[in-house]
Amino acid sequence: MNDVLVTGATGTLGRALVGRLVDDGWRVLAASRTPTDASEIAGANDAAAVEWVELDLVEGVGIERAVEEADAVVHAATAPRGDPEAVDVRGTERLLDAAESAGVDHFVYPSIVGVDAIPLSYYERKREGERAVEASPVPSTVLRATQFHAFVEEILGTVAKIPVWPLPTTFRIQPVDHREVADRLVDSLAAEPLGRAAPVGGPAVHTLGELAGAYREARGLRRAIVRLPVPGVVAKGFRDGRATRPDRAVGTVTWESWLAERDGGSAESAAERAGATSG
Ligand SMILES: NC(=O)c1ccc[n+]([C@@H]2O[C@H](COP(=O)([O-])OP(=O)(O)OC[C@H]3O[C@@H](n4cnc5c(N)ncnc54)[C@H](OP(=O)(O)O)[C@@H]3O)[C@@H](O)[C@H]2O)c1
Repeated sequence: MNDVLVTGATGTLGRALVGRLVDDGWRVLAASRTPTDASEIAGANDAAAVEWVELDLVEGVGIERAVEEADAVVHAATAPRGDPEAVDVRGTERLLDAAESAGVDHFVYPSIVGVDAIPLSYYERKREGERAVEASPVPSTVLRATQFHAFVEEILGTVAKIPVWPLPTTFRIQPVDHREVADRLVDSLAAEPLGRAAPVGGPAVHTLGELAGAYREARGLRRAIVRLPVPGVVAKGFRDGRATRPDRAVGTVTWESWLAERDGGSAESAAERAGATSG
């Protein structure tokens, strides 16, 4: 059995990665700053195959020890709302240095579609993280994905309680189920390092206005959605669809089926219902 270190194992993507890796027979070193029970991270999967390890990419805690035990690394730690320069750039460099010293076979790095096209500060830091991975002698695969459904849901959750939703309704978004991204990352890990893998996009490109409308309907809310004009090049990038890859619409879970699953059904049954009504 091979050992894999997953950084950011308590995050949205990290938890899905851990489950899928255990399913595939890996022993997982699940790392984060926050002490977390292995059984909680493993979810329905075999907790005996998961060990939580303390790792802080900014303070430098636990990095070498965690990497020394690992044959491979999936680096899913990130700090979009914290200090991405410290976590996503310098933290990635520290992790790569440790991986090089430890002779890690494969370093897999999730990134975001559009990091090289939209000058959002977090995206620029992610691009620097990618460059560090690409410059390292450690064999690697960088895989970009579009925004997760969970992220869009979080954004809409911030306005859900107010009566009028001011949103940049013309932003173009192609949300994807993070579990499908985890599947692709684990497939990449098991294969030869590619340098760069083909990006993973959700099944369809929508405007944020359409996504908000479907969210409102799924939650049975009566709210007005109003277009918030946002000036600047970052907003233009999102309006122009630079964070989307319609040619890579490989995800199968639609926004509507994601919402239905969150409201109690399963993604499969929601997709079946959608198929039954459209076909
Ligand atoms: N969210 C999206 O829509 C999206 C789309 C495409 C790609 N991605 C990429 O997917 C990856 C995971 O994103 P996510 O949204 O799943 O992240 P997330 O839910 O915000 O989780 C971030 C993880 O990073 C850990 N972390 C934060 N600071 C740390 C530090 N100083 N040292 C060590 N660990 C630290 C957190 O754990 P503790 O706080 O416990 O340490 C947590 O487990 C990222 O590379 C992101 O760029 C995300």
